[in-house]
Amino acid sequence: MYVVRKEYEFLGIRFKNRVGLAAGFDKNAKYLGELSALGFGFIEIGTVTPKPQAGNDKPRLFRLIEDESVINRMGFNNDGLDVIVKRLQLRPKDLIVGGNIGKNKVTPNEEAVNDYKICFDKLYDVVDYFVVNVSSPNTPNLRELQDKKPLGEILKALIEMRSAFISTGKICKPILLKIAPDLGNEQLDDVVDIVNETGIDGIVATNTTISRAGLLTSKEKVESIGSGGLSGKILSDRATEVVAYIHKKSSGKIPIIGVGGIYSAKTAHDKINAGADLVQVYSGFIYGGPQMIKNIAKAL
Ligand SMILES: Cc1cc2nc3c(=O)[nH]c(=O)nc-3n(C[C@H](O)[C@H](O)[C@H](O)COP(=O)(O)O)c2cc1C
Repeated sequence: MYVVRKEYEFLGIRFKNRVGLAAGFDKNAKYLGELSALGFGFIEIGTVTPKPQAGNDKPRLFRLIEDESVINRMGFNNDGLDVIVKRLQLRPKDLIVGGNIGKNKVTPNEEAVNDYKICFDKLYDVVDYFVVNVSSPNTPNLRELQDKKPLGEILKALIEMRSAFISTGKICKPILLKIAPDLGNEQLDDVVDIVNETGIDGIVATNTTISRAGLLTSKEKVESIGSGGLSGKILSDRATEVVAYIHKKSSGKIPIIGVGGIYSAKTAHDKINAGADLVQVYSGFIYGGPQMIKNIAKAL
């Protein structure tokens, strides 16, 4: 077992290589050592919510094999903040870990900011960077938090908390925002404005899509699966488009982690060429396994 070392500096952090494991795979921070040994340069845990929650009823994860894609409606199943923080206190120290944070299903959107603040506070000392997840399609109405007003409120609150931490001598931990591939250009313009206004550090583009366009899998099968976020090969081009749009609109000034449909060195390069600094993989890892991760890490 060896880890591909292609060191890369991003947001003041040194990464072993530029390929990370996207959020949702190790939701509970249980397998960090093992996943690191499979070749990932960094691992994003979560989405973590303040209280533990079971997520949606099973079945909730479906492979679309012909499309090398996946539909999931997991619904933020996780062990909850306190258990995950305890685990992270014992984590391998030579590994970069991101903390992806969200809100509990029972928390109304008007109070969502509190859930993000609680997660940010308790995770601050045990992760290396944060991702604010307002883009999962599987928590009802969550994506409405991508609108300018609620999003601005959440991000400003976290930036204020971070300033307070820094004033007590803690180091600055980057805050990124994870966005949906289903946002239109006007909404993406708003996202760029909000990043600039709040001073957060970057964007993770993208989460899963609610679109079902272009699939080879039969309509009947897709309909029988039902709701959920679609990821994998089918998402590749749209996610790259979103990366390119944000990169261009911000004149290259917003740091970006590119994710969505990466399954080869070529598709990873597409994200980098569109303006991403780092990439993450989830569905491609399900189909391609560890060898693919090493191939991509070596190629970048
Ligand atoms: C089963 C599954 C669970 C996921 N859970 C989360 C999650 O909890 N939080 C999150 O931000 N993204 C989650 N995602 C989205 C991925 O992190 C990623 O953004 C998306 O799948 C696109 O990448 P891919 O095409 O490489 O899978 C999940 C994806 C899958 C397939």
